[in-house]
Amino acid sequence: MDFLDKRIEDYCLAYSDRESSLLKEINEYTSNNVPQPRMLSGHLQGRFLSMISKIKNPNCILEIGTYTGYSALCMAEGLNKGGKLITIDKDTSLHKKVSDFFRRSNYNNQIIQKLGNAVDILSEIDDSFDLVFIDADKRNYKTYFEMVLPKVNPGGIILVDNVLWSGKVTDLTENKDDRLTKVMDDFNKFISNLKGVKKMILPIRDGITIIIKNGQ
Ligand SMILES: C[S@@+](CC[C@H](N)C(=O)[O-])C[C@H]1O[C@@H](n2cnc3c(N)ncnc32)[C@H](O)[C@@H]1O
Repeated sequence: MDFLDKRIEDYCLAYSDRESSLLKEINEYTSNNVPQPRMLSGHLQGRFLSMISKIKNPNCILEIGTYTGYSALCMAEGLNKGGKLITIDKDTSLHKKVSDFFRRSNYNNQIIQKLGNAVDILSEIDDSFDLVFIDADKRNYKTYFEMVLPKVNPGGIILVDNVLWSGKVTDLTENKDDRLTKVMDDFNKFISNLKGVKKMILPIRDGITIIIKNGQ
């Protein structure tokens, strides 16, 4: 299932901001050299992440799931001067190449790349966050969310990717053999029942939930 009708996506892209040359390079490098390039946020979602970050102008961003660094660099565009972005991934094979991409960006001194299992790293992080992007292994989404929420500042934003799971969450019977469909549907139900936050699922690409922590 395509995430979005190609004509619609092309039209949106034609009248939206371009990717930077570095982002374009990362996109192409990922397509040509890295397994599962579909995991990369891509041009349209990347502009959305950048836009949210620019609206929020965060002091501190957390990303769970760096992959090839595309989404991290999109969110870094909105960082406060002097702000920082921590991004976590366990994939050792991508680490050096992604470090090079970060080094060549305008945010070299603001991005902290952490290598390891996200649950272990999250338990060691003391920072508080204005913007969080959860985009790693789906079965741990609820764990990540519960670990991260106390570290999010009042008014802070959590974005969660792939919540529509290629549309499969809309038909649990037909997709009963795909375990992750149920995982994502359970996660979506958990978020929808949560108090103390505002939440909305946006049908952007594979579905992004935007959650705002109450209290500001
Ligand atoms: C969907 S990709 C991230 C895509 C990236 N955010 C983007 O938009 O370009 C998911 C990443 O999560 C990482 N990942 C999966 N399980 C993880 C875990 N338990 N701890 C840390 N990283 C993990 C994978 O190695 C992979 O690079």
